[in-house]
Amino acid sequence: MKRSTPLIPQEDIGRQWSCCAQVRAQNARRATPPLALVETYGCQQNEADSERLRGYLAQMGYQFTHDRAQADVIILNTCAVREHAELRVLGNVGGLVHTKRNKPGQVICLCGCMAQEPQMADKIRRSYRHVDLVFGPHALWRFPEFLLRILQRRGRIFEVADEPGAIAEGLPVSRQSGVKAWVSVMYGCNNFCSYCIVPYVRGRERSREPQAILEEVRQLAAAGYKEINLLGQNVNSYGKDLGEPMDFADLLRAVNDVPGDFLIRFMTSHPKDASEKLFDAMARCEKAAPALHLPFQAGSNRVLKAMNRGYTCESYVDLVSRLRAKIPHIVLTSDVIVGFPGETTPEFEETLRLVEEVRYDALFTFLYSPRTGTPAAAMEDPMPKEEKMANFQRLVEVQNAISAEKHRAYVGQTLRCLVDGSSDDPRNNLSARTPGGRLVHLSGPETLIGNYVNLTITDSTTWTLFGALV
Ligand code: SAH
Ligand code: SF4
Ligand code: F3S
Repeated sequence: MKRSTPLIPQEDIGRQWSCCAQVRAQNARRATPPLALVETYGCQQNEADSERLRGYLAQMGYQFTHDRAQADVIILNTCAVREHAELRVLGNVGGLVHTKRNKPGQVICLCGCMAQEPQMADKIRRSYRHVDLVFGPHALWRFPEFLLRILQRRGRIFEVADEPGAIAEGLPVSRQSGVKAWVSVMYGCNNFCSYCIVPYVRGRERSREPQAILEEVRQLAAAGYKEINLLGQNVNSYGKDLGEPMDFADLLRAVNDVPGDFLIRFMTSHPKDASEKLFDAMARCEKAAPALHLPFQAGSNRVLKAMNRGYTCESYVDLVSRLRAKIPHIVLTSDVIVGFPGETTPEFEETLRLVEEVRYDALFTFLYSPRTGTPAAAMEDPMPKEEKMANFQRLVEVQNAISAEKHRAYVGQTLRCLVDGSSDDPRNNLSARTPGGRLVHLSGPETLIGNYVNLTITDSTTWTLFGALV
């Protein structure tokens, strides 16, 4: 068997590093170091991509700012999954006309999933003339070359060609957190759910070499990272394109064998590919968090079929019971779409019934948003917006009651939690996560950030838990 996904040759990556050196030399002539700002929208995959862009920028001598007015280079790393996400980005891009007017020479870049949509790239080209550089996810590894060209010639660059995609290893990474790390294990998606833009903008499924992933995890564990998040649009397809027999369950076991005190989380799992082998691996791996995000999207079999999801409501419920038989204390979360074209209110009520039967710990609920170029965008969608909104509200209420009840059951328990951040609230200045990933507020010294502590849960709400140090 031969590996079917192309790897970008190391000499091509090397050329990007020499572009970094050239920009760095140019920047070194300035009186003060130049500033960069990377704003990220969308999923963790984009967060991981932004860490690579920051890695490149750091190599080029940039320091970082949160102030758009001060930044010499601004990158908006965008998401195309719903219209709402795109409108937010366009609003922000529009606002940059003013920052650029006050700071001529400011370089404005738009990348990520929106950039890979042909009609969006055209719109930026025509109507947002202050944007200098537009590149899609496929071209991200070439960012230094693009920036160098812009700085030398100040023309506009659009690098948005569609392609199945390749894998680039050896890019610099500047991580935002010293506690939790994102590790992409695969890119792209082959599932073509009928509502979803991701396969069009992220290309075909392709897996990183296990050795490259394990080396990255070893370095993170040695650096003291406490949580490793393995990322992919559908991690359960991991390995299908590798030249060796290896699937996600095997990878999970291999990551679990890396020495260190860390938890492994992963997302996302597609129900059609979630296997008992994976559940067994999760149950056996002491570092695998007892948590699974398993999007079901809709409760009606007719709607699931129209969505091209590849499973039925019954097979999904059966999968969950097999999972719970192996890991009874699993924290289960999911994504749901309300208002898919043609979904009737009785069909929506099947979603409600599924939610009541499965009893998720938390649910991410979305109102269907038509995406240009997807099959669902061309389907009849007769339900009025008000009816969709009313259904959406019903779902939120049902789930909130379940979440609140599930959270109440934590009160009195003592759990080993990772303190992962701080807040301005003086009574609850720290945040932590239970092994299953539920948010806990607590008060304590900031020095606890990045450590595991035992917390007794004292109180709860629909969304969070409150804990006290033991
Ligand atoms: N690969 C992941 C999901 C990526 S997108 C998976 O398959 O589970 C995250 C979520 O956004 C999806 O699970 C879906 O619930 C939602 N979503 C995707 N496209 C959407 C659309 N057009 N309108 C509304 N929600 C959408
Ligand atoms: Fe989109 Fe479906 Fe792929 Fe998830 S599995 S990214 S919802 S096409
Ligand atoms: Fe959005 Fe792209 Fe992620 S569309 S959800 S940023 S893969």
